Amino acid sequence: MLSPDSIELADMAARWRSAYVHIPFCRRRCPYCDFAVVAPGDPHADDLAGLTQRYLAALHAEIDIQSEVDNGLAGESLDAINLGGGTPSSIGATAIGEIVEHLDSRFGLAPGAEVSIEANPEDVSEELVDGLLAVGVNRVSIGVQSFDDEVLRFLGRAHTAEQAGAALEMCVPRFACGVDLIFGAPGESLDSWRATVASALSVYPHHLSAYGLTVEAGTALWRAVRAGASAPDPDDQADKYEVVQAAAADANLVQYEVSNYARPGFTCRYNLSTWGQGEYVGLGVGAHGHRNAVRSRNVRSVLAYVKALEAGDLPEAGREVPVEPEMERLILGVRRSCGVDLGEWEEAAASHAGLQRLVAAGVIEIRRGRLRVLRPLLADDVAATVLSLSP
Ligand SMILES: C[S@@+](CC[C@H](N)C(=O)[O-])C[C@H]1O[C@@H](n2cnc3c(N)ncnc32)[C@H](O)[C@@H]1O
Ligand code: SF4
Repeated sequence: MLSPDSIELADMAARWRSAYVHIPFCRRRCPYCDFAVVAPGDPHADDLAGLTQRYLAALHAEIDIQSEVDNGLAGESLDAINLGGGTPSSIGATAIGEIVEHLDSRFGLAPGAEVSIEANPEDVSEELVDGLLAVGVNRVSIGVQSFDDEVLRFLGRAHTAEQAGAALEMCVPRFACGVDLIFGAPGESLDSWRATVASALSVYPHHLSAYGLTVEAGTALWRAVRAGASAPDPDDQADKYEVVQAAAADANLVQYEVSNYARPGFTCRYNLSTWGQGEYVGLGVGAHGHRNAVRSRNVRSVLAYVKALEAGDLPEAGREVPVEPEMERLILGVRRSCGVDLGEWEEAAASHAGLQRLVAAGVIEIRRGRLRVLRPLLADDVAATVLSLSP
């Protein structure tokens, strides 16, 4: 079995084809979240049940249109479906099953395809687990974020630590199950974070994602910080990053990307493919796609999305052909633990002062034409330096 951080696996993933499906509905809007989301209290959301039905009808219409664009991702079946959000688990297994079945009938699913959804702990029940398994879902990522109720309150989450633990107990034995965590919320102590990581790893999940809390413009957290509330502290986040890196390694989870760890055989196909410039169709509000070397993005307003499809139009907000696809390959590739082949940039990298400084400082290595980031926390700085390369 290939290790999650192997070059061979990353190269295979670059050829996988996926579908990303965005389900925007959430029970409440977390104050830090900038995703395309609809929550109670939003304008136009007074009839959420009705809006959900219209949205799902529009989504199915988009699947029909997109599958005719080029006979389904150049005629090949899908290696991965990822339902993300928003909160896909909030629409229930029947609606999830209808989407999976529709994608299968239109695009086809490759044998052993990954069928993955993001789930919030408060939605997880034995009934949901049985229902998801029955409709072919084989992978679940649970949005745990923290096992500290005070941190969960700060993050505005709708679940408790106990509910998160119960959700993992139900899901780890029956799916390839991931735990998603956030570190560095103001008020979270280092001990609290250590305890969160230990609790997450104690269930021996198949996958772990850990992201530092970021303050996204326009969110309630951003407004609070502008009004004087504490912001996440980069030094504190760096310490917490090292805590999770070390604990994951002790638990035999292999780091394969800046923020992602997996047991061998359980990398997230969809994610690994996107970091390798794999092709994916993006379906739903705010979804991004990458097909035939074109990157596209859908409108972010649910009403605009629904209305476009009700009129028989694609809900696209824009599309572009990357000016430098080879540079894009490098920028995405540096995020992976296996690094990226420098290709035509090898010579330029050897004489690039900025990159050579990073080599000398032990931040990156360049060996046999491949650049690898040794200190993943600095991957964004490395990417910025890579951007200044010219072939
Ligand atoms: C957008 S959520 C969707 C899945 C699910 N609703 C949830 O909350 O877990 C996907 C992941 O992004 C994380 N996320 C969203 N905004 C973030 C931010 N500002 N900083 C760090 N992580 C963030 C979420 O916490 C979650 O783990
Ligand atoms: S539940 Fe997830 S998607 Fe919804 S607002 Fe919170 S972080 Fe965003």
